[in-house]
Parts: sequence; C-alpha cells; structure tokens
Amino acid sequence: MVVVRAPATVANLGSGFDVFGIALDHPADIIRVEPAKKTTITVVGSGSQYIPCDPKKNTAGVVAEALSAPAHITIDKGVRPASGLGSSAASAAGTAIALNALYDKGFSKEELVWIAAEGERAASGAAHADNVAPAIFGGFTIVSNNKITAIEASLPVVVCLPEISVSTRSARSVIPTSLDLYSHINTVGNAATLTAGMFRNDPLLVGHGLDDSIITPTRSNLISGYESVKTAAIDAGATGVTVGGSGPTVLAIPKKGRSRHVASAMVTAFFSQGILSKAYQTKIGSGAEIYL
Ligand code: HSE
Repeated sequence: MVVVRAPATVANLGSGFDVFGIALDHPADIIRVEPAKKTTITVVGSGSQYIPCDPKKNTAGVVAEALSAPAHITIDKGVRPASGLGSSAASAAGTAIALNALYDKGFSKEELVWIAAEGERAASGAAHADNVAPAIFGGFTIVSNNKITAIEASLPVVVCLPEISVSTRSARSVIPTSLDLYSHINTVGNAATLTAGMFRNDPLLVGHGLDDSIITPTRSNLISGYESVKTAAIDAGATGVTVGGSGPTVLAIPKKGRSRHVASAMVTAFFSQGILSKAYQTKIGSGAEIYL
C-alpha cells in the first residue's frame, strides 16, 4: 500500500492563463492505493457525492489506465470539486505519484505531469497541466510549449471558496477567442512582473502581476459578489486579487501580517451578498508527497 498527500493548487494567477500555477500548503487530498487485478475507486470527503467512481470517468482511474497500474484507489477529498482549487488535479497527481511508487514504474516527475494531465482531460475536456504541474512539483510552475519550469517560492496566500459551483467546462466556454494588441502587451508585462515577484518572494510584485484584462473579467461574472469581495480584500491589505483557476475561488495575495484580515474581509463580503464561503489562510507549499 502507498499513501500520498496531494495539495490543492491554483492555476492561471490572472495573467498566466493555462500557464502559471502554485501549490498550496493546504487543503489537500489523501490518496491510498493497493495493488489489484482491476481498478476500483472509492471517494470520501468534501464533495465526494459529485465525483464519479467509474474508473473511466474518474481522473484517478484514467491515470491508473495510462500507467497500466490497476489498483484499489481510495481518495479522501480535502479539495472540494468544482472549486478552482485543482480538485481533479490533486487526485490525478496524487494517484500518479502513488502508482509510480507502488509498481516501481520509475517515471520522472515531468513524465508524471503529462500522465496526470490525461486525468484532467477526463474531468474538464482539456489536458491542461497548469494544476497538475504544481501538484507534483510544488512551488510556482510555468507550463509553456509542453515544458515545465518549477520555481521554489514562499508567499502567504488567501483563497476564499464561496458556496457556488462553477465547472471548468463552463468557465472555459466564456473566454474570448481573440484579443487586441494592448491587452497582449499588458498581459505579458503583468506575467513577467509576477514571475519576478515569485523569485523575490515579493507580495507587491506578485499581487500587481495578477492583473489580467482578458480572461478574468469574463469569468468573474460567473461569481456573484466578485467585485465587492475583491474591493474588501484590497482594503484589508491584499496586494492583488483574481479568480482562482476557473473559479469560483477568489485568490488574494496578502501583505505581510494581513492574511487573517484579508480572509475575514472576503468571507464577510460574500456573506453580505447572501453567499456562504470558507477562506483558507495558506501559503505556497510543496508538491504531492508519499507519507506511507
Ligand atoms: N487553466 C485552467 C482554466 C485551469 O482556467 O480553465 C482549470 O482549473
């Protein structure tokens, strides 16, 4: 038996749509695998009632098939599905790491990212790797031209998850298919600023670099109260705010010592719109790890 802890992740970070991602210290999924002749999947925990146990439809099952590694897989969900916190990626990445160890397959982390990305295809229709890359490597990751660059980074992060459901499929259907030159220049500038901020562990640069005028405005419309939550977070000491992954999570980068204030302001702002939410005061963390 192998047990793996696989972290929540946040993709995009505003200016890095389908490119940037970070691993979060918490929440996380716990995945247990045992050798079997045929794959079976049991899911418990947060939102487990919405997750298919059919191995052909479950990200972990798709990964087991891709690795030719049948197993009894038990997933304890700490990362709620349809949250924007890389729920399907945590299960896919954790299963890939666990089965690689269980059957001594010897795949590298980079190879496991692309195998786990096939699990993402089952969940959202696209094999994007911007969640599975940080779920496996940890830190801040850049996926570009099928290459992964992983950078160690250490910054506090607040993610606020409202009780709204937004599927990645529907969030991908609203994004614009063309853009003007000014938006392109602005996005490249912000993405470069954010990357520099990650190297320097500088919350001001990272917060500034989250800004995106192309994808985020269309997606934030799917999150009731987004603008007031963003304003409340900035007023409470966030350097920048954006949609976490495909939403509905809202991500904020707090200034030093302001995590609790930012988290509380975001929950209060959602509540004043009649929406319950849960805020995690977390930080950029490590990738999936075997702990048993
Ligand atoms: N980059 C993907 C998207 C991540 O935003 O659609 C999904 O979590």
